[in-house]
Amino acid sequence: MEFSKLSEGKTKEVYDYDSSHVLLRFKDSITAGDGAKKDELPTKGILNAQTSALLFRLLESKGIETHYVGMFDERTMIAKKLKMIPVEVVLRNIATGSIVKRLPIKEGEVFEPPIIEFFLKDDERHDPMLNYYHMEHLKLMNRKEAQQIEEIMMKVNDILYPFFKSKRLILYDFKLEFGRLSDKLIVGDEITLDSMRIREEGTGRILDKDLYRKGADLETVRKAYEEFFKRISE
Ligand code: C5P
Repeated sequence: MEFSKLSEGKTKEVYDYDSSHVLLRFKDSITAGDGAKKDELPTKGILNAQTSALLFRLLESKGIETHYVGMFDERTMIAKKLKMIPVEVVLRNIATGSIVKRLPIKEGEVFEPPIIEFFLKDDERHDPMLNYYHMEHLKLMNRKEAQQIEEIMMKVNDILYPFFKSKRLILYDFKLEFGRLSDKLIVGDEITLDSMRIREEGTGRILDKDLYRKGADLETVRKAYEEFFKRISE
């Protein structure tokens, strides 16, 4: 890439495109356990870039502001340059994953209304959970901004849940990251099977990164990512 690299994460590289845009290049890497487990999954970067682009376009069409601008190539997104907030915001419709380990909640319990949680992006500390007081003290965001983010999370769920349902897929939970552009809070990062849990309606078949977390072979994981993208693009 002829652009200068601003940063590199576990699954994406960020390049300086121009004064107000970055390029997000989606790698073929797949990781779990805060980077403890890592593999290469050919074409995953393309599938995740395309999945993110499709879902960001869907959100934009319904009035949610995202960093998405367009595609530079099949695995590289042009995005608005944001001041990213190092917090992962999770919305849960159905209990699974870390919440059933942390709290006396059973796998499959339905959350009505959905539950929203904030976590610090900090692999060494295994992404600890944050409340409004922590976030204010750490100067991550104030309470008003946290509440604005909660409202955006609920709106995004109200768009994504029925969209996936129409494809006979159930959105168990998802994670978003936010950034600031002047005084606005904007959805950044990605929306992919690395950051959502998606199960097939009726069969409960797992289509997301839990397959990899639970030790499925790489080709099964790759096929699930491919099938998911096909189903949401039809
Ligand atoms: O592990 P946990 O149950 O807290 O994950 C909730 C949701 O957030 C899942 O969809 C998971 O894929 C996503 N997540 C993520 N990045 C992390 C941790 C969780 O995208 N570092």
